[in-house]
Amino acid sequence: MTGIMSPDGTKRLVLVSGRAHPELAASVAQELGTDLLPTSAYDFANGEIYVRFGESVRGADVYVLQSHTAPINQWIMEQMIMVDALKRASAKTITVVLPFYGYARQDKKHKGREPISARLLADMYEVAGADRMMSVDLHTAQLQGFFNGPVDHLWAMPLLTDYVRTRVDLSNVTVVSPDAGRIKVAEKWAAKLGGNPLAFVHKTRDINKPNQSIANRVVGDVDGRTCVLVDDLIDTGGTIAEAVRVCLESGAKDVIVAATHGVLSDPAARRLSECGAREVVVTDTLPITADKRFDQLTVLSIAPLLARAIEEVFADGSVTSLFDGNS
Ligand code: R5P
Repeated sequence: MTGIMSPDGTKRLVLVSGRAHPELAASVAQELGTDLLPTSAYDFANGEIYVRFGESVRGADVYVLQSHTAPINQWIMEQMIMVDALKRASAKTITVVLPFYGYARQDKKHKGREPISARLLADMYEVAGADRMMSVDLHTAQLQGFFNGPVDHLWAMPLLTDYVRTRVDLSNVTVVSPDAGRIKVAEKWAAKLGGNPLAFVHKTRDINKPNQSIANRVVGDVDGRTCVLVDDLIDTGGTIAEAVRVCLESGAKDVIVAATHGVLSDPAARRLSECGAREVVVTDTLPITADKRFDQLTVLSIAPLLARAIEEVFADGSVTSLFDGNS
């Protein structure tokens, strides 16, 4: 029987995965020391999705991993269908693992008659039968409140900061937030790197035009310094490319970019490779296909973090302990 039994033999951990990011699923399974549950999944001619698990999941604690990459709606739907199949097959608990929470940017109404799609997504997982949710670097922490069950909010920051500190002279680093909204995260980065100065980019965005922003100027001291520019996600690369530009125009010595989620929609690869950043670091919460890669890109594996968090949840341990008490 696929899975991991608890030491006293009373619980069984089962990892299942959708089709969106098989490399990540394989890495998480390897970190856990188990195989993925055999699963058949295919599409009917009209696009409907079919899923069936090849072994019993009765009484199991099941972790359903799916990366919300493009075509994002298909993969979200597939994950919901997997949850439904698990519920009807008498899984004891169902945890949806969303390394990147799709629609997270739509977490509030900017104007009348808009949806709050991030909330809708949480409701849909709950209705499908999910008991618990696990995600990495939510766009805003308060998204945890959209889901009524427990939400394990994992941070990629320790992974990213451990890497970045090997790439910079820490005595000459300014941590830069690409907009005013992410200063809190940048503050945590600065503290983790050793109390470095902070700066932020004053950015304006036309809410009628998705994926378009204008970086006006940097607020803070970047002259002659290495800027570590941090964000939760890079989509088309417009925000980051603009932020790199204003940092360099303000006298920065060089810029290294660190972001958790490499959405990297076209034309991100071109923009980022040409923007002047020395290095762009992301994790593999989303698949980084060959067409999205470029010379300055470094991809770090999120699998060890996901596996450790799953182990903690399964053992009724502490996820918070993975992050020095912060979550
Ligand atoms: C904005 O609030 C986000 O944190 C990202 O900065 C933004 O969504 C990235 O989008 P793009 O790469 O298309 O500018």
